[in-house]
Amino acid sequence: MKGIVLAGGSGTRLHPVTRAVSKQLLPVYDKPMIYYPISVLMLTGVREILIISTPNDLPAFQRLLGDGSELGVEFSYAEQAAPNGLAEAFIIGADHVGDDTAALVLGDNIFHGQQFSTMLTDEAHRLDQEKGCVLFGYPVRDPERYGVGEADETGRLISIEEKPANPRSNRAITGLYFYDNDVLDIARRLNPSARGELEITDVNRAYVERGDARLIDLGRGFAWLDTGTHESLIEASQYVQVLEHRQGVRFACLEEIALVHRWIAPEQAYELGKQQGKSGYGLYVMDVATRIQLEGTNV
Ligand code: G1P
Repeated sequence: MKGIVLAGGSGTRLHPVTRAVSKQLLPVYDKPMIYYPISVLMLTGVREILIISTPNDLPAFQRLLGDGSELGVEFSYAEQAAPNGLAEAFIIGADHVGDDTAALVLGDNIFHGQQFSTMLTDEAHRLDQEKGCVLFGYPVRDPERYGVGEADETGRLISIEEKPANPRSNRAITGLYFYDNDVLDIARRLNPSARGELEITDVNRAYVERGDARLIDLGRGFAWLDTGTHESLIEASQYVQVLEHRQGVRFACLEEIALVHRWIAPEQAYELGKQQGKSGYGLYVMDVATRIQLEGTNV
């Protein structure tokens, strides 16, 4: 499976904060926002990740993330020249996906929950055997702000609408999408919507019509956090802060995920932590690397 992170947009709802800085580079407590969606792809086991952003913002993502080799992954970069919609990711990223399955995650979506990585790897493996797409639904108070899906009792999606005035369910479709390779063709054939964009909901509707769109429910014990307004952004930071402090762990720590997957050695991870050793994040990476190195020695 190949991964795409879409980190475009002009973040107008966060102006003036996002006038000079991309929304997806803003901090969510102790790390840039884009670390969270990247961590989702890495937890899925995806190592080839294309980052798409505006021509203006792309260099900053490259400065932050480099080519990924330090983490045992490959980051590549592509521009979305104009805000032509989320589904354009599969036109821009067609060569990157090649003949593989694909995961798209929006650069401002933050997920946190029990057994998430097992869920992700199970679904990614399923798409290696079966056609279709997998969407992740989350119950929200204000579904009219999102894509909204309705599923039958087997989890097969039977309808999907983008920001409906009268939602048929309270299940928002989150910004994480797994597809078979047909997504490239489907995206290529899309017509722009009334607002002139290639809508991801239209891609998903094509799968609903084929009858092979699955909806996985992220239950109420799960967190899918909003980062679209100043209030929700600070709430997301507070959520991460409270849980990290209480549990003594860090979420979306890319070095830790690479280490646990054995994509990098403990010594490498330790070095990466040391380079950032003046921050709690860096110290945490050094701690985790030391612990895993000791465990490895004990085996
Ligand atoms: C986009 C999608 C929407 C989805 C949401 C998730 O909306 O169009 O279907 O529910 O992302 O974050 P946007 O945030 O671009 O308004």
